[in-house]
Amino acid sequence: MNTIIEPFRIKAVEPLRLTTRQERQHALRAAGYNLFGLDADDVIIDLLTDSGTGAMSQEQWAAIMRGDESYAGSRSWFGFSDRVRDIFGYEHIIPTHQGRAAERILFSLVGEPGKIIPNNTHFDTTRANVEHSGARAVDVVADAGRDPATELPFKGDVDVERLRRLIVEAGPEKFPLVMLTVTNNAGGGQPVSMANVRAVSELVHGFGIPLYFDACRFAENAYFIQQREQGYRHKSAREIAREMFALGDGCTMSAKKDGMANIGGFLATNDADLAARARNILILTEGFPTYGGLAGRDLEAIAQGLDEVLQQDYLEYRIASTTYLCDHLHAKGVPMLRPAGGHAVYIDAAGFLPHIPKAQFPGQALACALYEHAGIRGCEIGSVMFGDNAPMELVRLAIPRRVYTQSHIDYVVESVLEVFANRGDLRGYEITWEPPNLRHFTCKFQPLSS
Ligand code: F0G
Repeated sequence: MNTIIEPFRIKAVEPLRLTTRQERQHALRAAGYNLFGLDADDVIIDLLTDSGTGAMSQEQWAAIMRGDESYAGSRSWFGFSDRVRDIFGYEHIIPTHQGRAAERILFSLVGEPGKIIPNNTHFDTTRANVEHSGARAVDVVADAGRDPATELPFKGDVDVERLRRLIVEAGPEKFPLVMLTVTNNAGGGQPVSMANVRAVSELVHGFGIPLYFDACRFAENAYFIQQREQGYRHKSAREIAREMFALGDGCTMSAKKDGMANIGGFLATNDADLAARARNILILTEGFPTYGGLAGRDLEAIAQGLDEVLQQDYLEYRIASTTYLCDHLHAKGVPMLRPAGGHAVYIDAAGFLPHIPKAQFPGQALACALYEHAGIRGCEIGSVMFGDNAPMELVRLAIPRRVYTQSHIDYVVESVLEVFANRGDLRGYEITWEPPNLRHFTCKFQPLSS
């Protein structure tokens, strides 16, 4: 049997509102051509993000009923922290309302002007939190990770030699930690190999620098290692995740991704002193250390989600679904970032729209066209999001976990192909207003006439 089916059936349905092209044109104009500004009800297939948009299982909903909302020392906290410790292996766990809260706490403690934080590729909130602390965020992904077309199994890998030179030239004391994002979201959802994690771990530990993971999509990364790296075929995703985390000293996590929950996150570390200082900030801005920014029921949903995300049939279906989408578009000549990422496929907008220069935001033009044509909301990951630091001009179609079916995916394939057939008609955009930080969320655009 070759067909990999969704390993679940549907118990509660959420109707989709089917809009007309005219309605979408109106909505797009009203949103200043920024897809973050749309009403979600005006979107048919929402691929803006895989973050917090997943469907929970019956076991998660049942766990929610068991949530213990005691202010301190709740049963839900002990269940959550035991589960996190079992998979991630770090001693101190600091629950936060989502990933960026963990990043803010971590970088406000270790970052300051003069410090440098390398990462394969910093995601937007990570980069912003590093820079907000005064430290410098540096991306050290290997060259293949910046090239959309190269077909390699581990394009999230760090260029270890470049990292070594960076540390030697600046001096190890400038580096409070080195980070690895698994999978590498801003670089196409591409995995990092265990061999690369091991090499980075040995390098940075040789300099006395701790290694932290940005662990948002750790289960997808573990599955890629299982499928693609020699020696891991017979290990479970859980065993692989444990092996990987044992090579580091801590992590930040957004439970909105591979936590299979709609909210939540944590900071985990083996550094008792850092953890104590982190808890002081936590109490100030998030909450008491046994709930952080979360309700007891959220802790329950995450604990259960962390188990489900590591199940083999789930991971097989998950990666088969993104691979199907990417391969079908690629087969018809659409320039795609290859191979498919774990949580998303990325269209190479620079290749899709070679007539639109970087300064006129080809990714934005493509994302708007997909919405106007078919009601699909994707996300620009390029010069709008990262300015001059943008490694590539991409449009990400992120797949929420366990939400859309195969026919939804087929609709997306068909729609992208239709826009591709008429790509010569698309025009660039200019920004008419932007805020000081993370501009992609709120800036306004205007279409250019030629
Ligand atoms: N790190 C990575 C790699 C991420 O992809 C995200 C979020 C975060 C950190 C921050 O986590 O949202 O819980 O505060 N990425 C989402 C996305 C928003 O659409 O890729 P958060």
